[in-house]
Amino acid sequence: MPSAFDLVELVPVPRAVNGPKRCGVVIDENITVWAAPGTEGTERWLRATLGAAFGVPLRPGPQGVRDSVQLCLDDTMEPEAYKLSVLATWGIEIRGGSPAGVFWGAQTLRQLLGRHAFRRAPVRPGIMYGIPHQIIEDAPRFRWRGLMLDVARHFMPKDGVLRYLDLMAAHKLNVFHFHLTDDQGWRIEIERYPRLTEVGSWRARTKFGHRASPLWEEKPHGGFYTQDDIREIVAYAAERHITVVPEIDVPGHSQAAIAAYPELGNTDVIDTTALSVWDTWGINPNVLAPTDNTLRFYEGVFEELLELFPSEFIHVGGDECPKDQWRQSPAAQARIRELGLAGEDQLQSWFIRHFDKWLSARGRRLIGWDEILEGGLADGAAVSSWRGYAGGIAAARAGHDVVMCPEQQVYLDHRQDGGADEPVPIGFVRTLEDVYRFEPVPSELTPKEAGHVLGTQANLWTEVMEDPARVDYQAFPRLAAFAEVAWSALPAPEERDFADFERRMEAHYERLDALGVGYRPPAGPRPWQRRPGVLGRPIDGAPPNR
Ligand code: ACM
Repeated sequence: MPSAFDLVELVPVPRAVNGPKRCGVVIDENITVWAAPGTEGTERWLRATLGAAFGVPLRPGPQGVRDSVQLCLDDTMEPEAYKLSVLATWGIEIRGGSPAGVFWGAQTLRQLLGRHAFRRAPVRPGIMYGIPHQIIEDAPRFRWRGLMLDVARHFMPKDGVLRYLDLMAAHKLNVFHFHLTDDQGWRIEIERYPRLTEVGSWRARTKFGHRASPLWEEKPHGGFYTQDDIREIVAYAAERHITVVPEIDVPGHSQAAIAAYPELGNTDVIDTTALSVWDTWGINPNVLAPTDNTLRFYEGVFEELLELFPSEFIHVGGDECPKDQWRQSPAAQARIRELGLAGEDQLQSWFIRHFDKWLSARGRRLIGWDEILEGGLADGAAVSSWRGYAGGIAAARAGHDVVMCPEQQVYLDHRQDGGADEPVPIGFVRTLEDVYRFEPVPSELTPKEAGHVLGTQANLWTEVMEDPARVDYQAFPRLAAFAEVAWSALPAPEERDFADFERRMEAHYERLDALGVGYRPPAGPRPWQRRPGVLGRPIDGAPPNR
């Protein structure tokens, strides 16, 4: 018979747990909440989640009383650190180094309350929910604990994005990298350029499966976020201490923008008026023209972006920009000569440097994929190291900040098992254990260089994820392992106790079930999670091939 004070397994694992005891504090209608100034967001969050799950009011109450949750700030602690005390003499206290620390402590509190704390209404009236007496002290390993979601290849409606922010918060992840534009869609309203969404936000049909698949989804696909949607997403994230880093991908991955405004493309090489939003996958040759007109156009886009996103970092993409059109374009060649550049690689770096200076002048920092290292790294720029560790190592050695997200380890679009049942399998086989043993800081770096590793990020590219259920399947359970890598003070990869993680995951799967997450079960996909007959790329070890 389970007791109200069953011991509970946490994911990500905290630094130190003292206790727990086999008696504790019961959450009932008498429990009140006191919140220090600055922690009102967590108070609201507790009421909205635990209040709804248990049907208790969590009324505001005084400071320092026993039957209560006390939310306190303590500036002697690291900003995101927290101490959660559940004591017979006191009740529940969450002490944080900042409002963010208090919020992460509240996430731990919810996990301690068991799986029903993840529901939106009580399942059985009259059941007691409690927390064993204990003290948990915890703090994150990295300040950048990210998830990138590609909403360009397949659009995720706003409610799905808000849900992912909740899922991130439940795993103590704190940077949402929002991949808003690509060849296959432009997803953010830009008021001065309405055609970006009128034309650029939808395509007539979509390749179903890997690009070599013969199948097409013969129906339009599209969607975009209005500026009010974006404001709501940013505010919802901020309430959860998550920063939204927007990405507008330049100068490659731009066919949707060129379809909307053909003058942005290399008009002296191809008839850009004939382009439409791309309907298949791969690396696209139709890149931006390196003209003043293009720079002014994108300055206009970024001006609206800065109004919407308060983030220090703004992501400008910079990946996978084929240089063929620039080689063929008399205008691009003239530009290279006029700027005294050595070639097309330097033209790309000139393009990125322009926006680096432009963003710096406005108090922001540029971040881009590791191709921005080619042809010279833009001053002050940070790098998302995706083609392995090498770009991140080079950038850190040159004194640039780095987010480690190597495709060999943390591209969650890649298959999570080698079996034939995996839906539309692409890329490397990367199991739950592989992700658990991912190490974000390469051993080649000196401690000083390693200080430039801001943290790590898992990436969800959505070419083969046609709906939110497919996103859930690819993301979970691996995102839980990733969250532990990003948050917890784990030992070296080979010394990590994966069996213990798996044991704790048994409790965590119940939480994910209560949240309605369509994860991959340990035994393999459920029948409706398979995609029989839809071609992926069933050759392990082949380079990823989106
Ligand atoms: C990328 O995967 N092209 C950044």
